[in-house]
Amino acid sequence: MSTTAVPDVTLNDDTTLPAIGFGTYKLNGAEGVAGMASAIRNGYRLLDSAFNYENEGALGVAIRQAGVPRAELRVTSKLPGRHHHHDEAIATIEESLYRAQLDYYDLYLIHWPNPGRGLYVEAWSALIEARKRGLVRSIGVCNFLPAHLERIIGETGVTPAINQVELHPYFPQAEQRAFDRAHGIVTESWSPLGRANRLLQEPVIEAIAARLGRTIGQVILRWHVQLGAVPLPKAASSARQIENLSIFDFELPPEDMSAITALARPDGRNFDQDPARYEEF
Ligand SMILES: NC(=O)c1ccc[n+]([C@@H]2O[C@H](COP(=O)([O-])OP(=O)(O)OC[C@H]3O[C@@H](n4cnc5c(N)ncnc54)[C@H](OP(=O)(O)O)[C@@H]3O)[C@@H](O)[C@H]2O)c1
Repeated sequence: MSTTAVPDVTLNDDTTLPAIGFGTYKLNGAEGVAGMASAIRNGYRLLDSAFNYENEGALGVAIRQAGVPRAELRVTSKLPGRHHHHDEAIATIEESLYRAQLDYYDLYLIHWPNPGRGLYVEAWSALIEARKRGLVRSIGVCNFLPAHLERIIGETGVTPAINQVELHPYFPQAEQRAFDRAHGIVTESWSPLGRANRLLQEPVIEAIAARLGRTIGQVILRWHVQLGAVPLPKAASSARQIENLSIFDFELPPEDMSAITALARPDGRNFDQDPARYEEF
């Protein structure tokens, strides 16, 4: 199987990201470095890590091992909930860079709004300053509901470039995606394959995949791209990394898109992580 060229999406700050990225949660240590370096060699250019994944250093090593010019990569990390205070946030971003041995992050996101603590506007102001200082090029958020987005935009005048949210066929996030789009925010999908839950045995998707001569994973990832969301699948093995990247040479017809979206469940979140309640520090 060979990969095909990955198109770009343009962000509201005029930078671009590839239309698919690589998730790195659970890729740690020497094995993690090998998996991430393999992903880069296989053609992934958008890499998604976080302070709390404890793998920013491993990702930095993988980037140097893979030997792809830094300017071709889009490297992401995320601010943990325990460091939303302004000065702590700036120090954390500097520490993220130090761990990865990078001069800048292409994209830095607030990991969770933690609304119970009420500090996400302060954290957002810190990201705005980090961008001004050249520590990061684009800034965004994860797991922000419309009310959280309205608040940071209203209080700072700065709209995030990205909102990274849980998104997969059991939880297609129609309203959140529409809100993001209306505000010029690109939606990224975390757990795009449902973290390999029952979704990968869904008969509806299985039938589409068989008809198109694709794998279930490819059909799901293609569905994300056609929704206008940027999926971030994680895969340890080179074979799955290539499989997941090879989705730009076919298209799902509208009836297949609708059939997959119809798998939505009212309780579709995989881990019961409703950002209105969930807290991660
Ligand atoms: N912002 C946030 O709050 C947040 C939360 C969660 C995740 N994320 C980000 O989103 C990324 C992706 O989410 P995720 O890691 O939770 O789940 P995911 O990407 O939906 O699923 C990963 C799982 O699917 C398996 N897999 C990958 N490709 C496959 C294929 N083609 N066929 C069958 N199985 C396949 C992987 O197995 P192997 O690895 O063994 O191949 C792994 O077990 C994370 O790595 C992280 O970067 C962000």
